[in-house]
Amino acid sequence: MKTSFYYQQQSLYCENTNLNAFAQKQSSPFYLYSKNELLQNCKAITEAGSGSDFLPCYALKANYNPTLLRLIRDMGFGADVVSGGELEFALKIGFPAEKIVFAGVGKSAAEIEFAIQTGIHSLNIESAEELKQTARIAARLQKKVRIALRVNPDIDAHTHAYISTGKHINKFGITIDEALRLYPAAANDPWLNPAGIHVHIGSQITEKGPFLKTVEFLLDFASLLKDRNVPITYLDLGGGIGVNYKNDFRDPDVPNSYISEILPAYINGLKDSGLKLVAELGRSVIATSGLLITQVLYRKQTPLKKFIVVDAAMNNLIRPSLYSAYHEIVPLNLDSQEKETVDVVGPVCESGDFFAKDRAMQPLKQGDFIAITAAGAYGQALASNYNLRPDIPEYLVDGETVLTIYKGRSISDIYDYYEQ
Ligand code: LLP
Repeated sequence: MKTSFYYQQQSLYCENTNLNAFAQKQSSPFYLYSKNELLQNCKAITEAGSGSDFLPCYALKANYNPTLLRLIRDMGFGADVVSGGELEFALKIGFPAEKIVFAGVGKSAAEIEFAIQTGIHSLNIESAEELKQTARIAARLQKKVRIALRVNPDIDAHTHAYISTGKHINKFGITIDEALRLYPAAANDPWLNPAGIHVHIGSQITEKGPFLKTVEFLLDFASLLKDRNVPITYLDLGGGIGVNYKNDFRDPDVPNSYISEILPAYINGLKDSGLKLVAELGRSVIATSGLLITQVLYRKQTPLKKFIVVDAAMNNLIRPSLYSAYHEIVPLNLDSQEKETVDVVGPVCESGDFFAKDRAMQPLKQGDFIAITAAGAYGQALASNYNLRPDIPEYLVDGETVLTIYKGRSISDIYDYYEQ
């Protein structure tokens, strides 16, 4: 899939908008998203499921800007939520309740009750105790609830330890043996409808292999449940499809996403099961549509390193600090073929506040703008006001038009919030 970002006459464009010209007129830093890129990702996901009874759900945790959520809703997506807050948000945005799935290792009684009352598609249950609690609440409300157990298939997703979830050392899910005991018990409970199997093996997975192993697991497990007379009607495949964090937009043929490589293989493997297929996708929907744009404040040099100090920081995008995540960083204006090796760092008082280490980049000077790429997922959603830095704005490019979709929150807004 081709990206919506490209260079023309040395300037970086998003759709028909010259980003260097746009950045000169804004206060920096800010997030900027491409509508076209987002819709293209949604379409590729929907196409991967064509021919199956497929419900793609968007994982709100990746980015919950309401304008972006409405665009995703209008592409026919449901929502994957992990808290009462996300459920409330998804409903306010207008995701139909019957297209919402609720996951999470620690749902409170109030959250379970809220979900059952709302009549969402299903709850993904993560432990024997949570199953009991859900049955108790459903009985009290006299409302039968559709559930899936999140089974931990012990598959290595070959991704960063903090975002790998399908191994037994992870806190997520229920072991196969325990799930095989719990399903028949749940099927005998008048208030539980254990109609699904849920898996999610991790995030930012860039190869088919772990998903193909998951296909085998799901088919085997579904047949074990059939033997035990547990009538399964759907599979919840989780999310986890990776994106290309190394695209520098110089070559339009470099793929931005692994959706079309991985998702059809995952879905096709399960098509013949005749079961409904639900997916929970965050990063692959929104990551590649977003950039974090920031301005160079200073250059500085020590005997060992050259630093480029920019006005964005780890409080705006924590992925490099938290997971040593690589994000390509590109200049909004290409003005040299030369390269120098630098660390790109923010102003926050932490050595962990960096966006790149020992990166070969075009020499940058005070006032230059750069874009940290593929920042649409787990960027603004994980932002904080650490060091009392304000919330930064978010813009959406639609062709030549740029809309403000979040104006940010100033320090005085934050102060007033405490004092009210
Ligand atoms: N379903 C479940 C149960 C999940 O835990 C997650 C993500 C998803 C779906 C969506 O996964 P995706 O399609 O986005 O890979 N902050 C980290 C990623 C944390 C992922 C948490 N769970 C990062 O920035 O890499």
